[in-house]
Amino acid sequence: MKALILCGGSGTRLRPLTYTRSKQLLPVANKPIVEYVLDHIQSVGIRKIGVIIAPGTQAEIKGYFNAHPQVKKKQIKISYILQREPLGLAHAVKIARNFLKEEPFLMYLGDNLLKEKLRDSFEEFKRDNLDALVFLKRVDNAGAFGVAVLDRQGRIVRLVEKPKIPPSNLALVGVYLFSAKIHKVIRTLRPSARGEFEITDAIQKLIEQKAKVRGKILKDWWLDTGKKDDILSANSTILDEYTQNKIEGRLDKKSKISGRVFIAKGATILNSTIRGPVVVGLRVKVRNAFIGPYTSIGDDSHIENSSIEHSVILKKVKIDGVARLEDSLIGENTQVIDSGKNHKALRLLVGDSAIIEV
Ligand code: TTP
Repeated sequence: MKALILCGGSGTRLRPLTYTRSKQLLPVANKPIVEYVLDHIQSVGIRKIGVIIAPGTQAEIKGYFNAHPQVKKKQIKISYILQREPLGLAHAVKIARNFLKEEPFLMYLGDNLLKEKLRDSFEEFKRDNLDALVFLKRVDNAGAFGVAVLDRQGRIVRLVEKPKIPPSNLALVGVYLFSAKIHKVIRTLRPSARGEFEITDAIQKLIEQKAKVRGKILKDWWLDTGKKDDILSANSTILDEYTQNKIEGRLDKKSKISGRVFIAKGATILNSTIRGPVVVGLRVKVRNAFIGPYTSIGDDSHIENSSIEHSVILKKVKIDGVARLEDSLIGENTQVIDSGKNHKALRLLVGDSAIIEV
């Protein structure tokens, strides 16, 4: 079996960050989102992976995968497939036809994270000779997603994309298993009202042709990282789940640490309090600061005289004199500096290389 990771798209909901970087490489607990995807795909033994890339972010995505140790050692083989315009998920499958050939495949959106083990679903897909196995999650706001209706046997009887009145609370999570039959129906698709070739339309056609299409409802968490708050909650969930309590950097006697905190090599913490779960990247400097729960600080950042909580700080960021920064996502190389005026808590979404005086 092969896998297809979708790293195209335009990421409009995460602008301005996505003007200069790809959404799939944004860090969650200091690790790029797509790395969790890659780990998950590898956990079921898939070694041949197609990656859909977009013109603006292809260099960054290729740079990431080509530098990955297992790609370098040829333990995984990556094929890049350029999607010139984000014409939809089914379009991405269409242009990957030559890579996928007649093999069944796992399709995984590059900005989705899920905990569930895939192994059993794989076995079920093969054993029952399915044409599609679609991963689903019960959600409160189903209207924001593709929505599935299942019968008692778990077969999907109907799919609708972002319905005004959702016929169920089962959202499509962005992970699918397909047989080669999907290619035939994709050839017959027309663009939807929003101008995209929808994978939900393709699966609906499979259903109409009496193909074997089943849903798999996830029991554990699923995180879609399309917006700032999604990234922050993904960061919180992953920190909660996986943070190791380990200090590889240096901490002075005046600093206090509580909860699970990972401090990477070369980091120095002076006269500060860190309350986990928190990860602190390589060579980070923290001085006279409070770092509160659910915060990730990227490599080479400097935090001084500030208080930060529930935030994702990318690499090489400088934050100085900010009394309270919370629920924020701060791009690489950005500076947030206090100019001496009083201010309340700040909640920011800032792109790369910005300078903000507050
Ligand atoms: P979306 O989040 O639905 O779309 P987007 O990335 O364009 O973001 P926004 O809605 O904020 O503009 O895409 C889900 C995933 O699929 C994401 O990893 C990008 C990828 N994708 C493609 O690779 N090709 C496409 O044509 C589309 C629409 C998405």
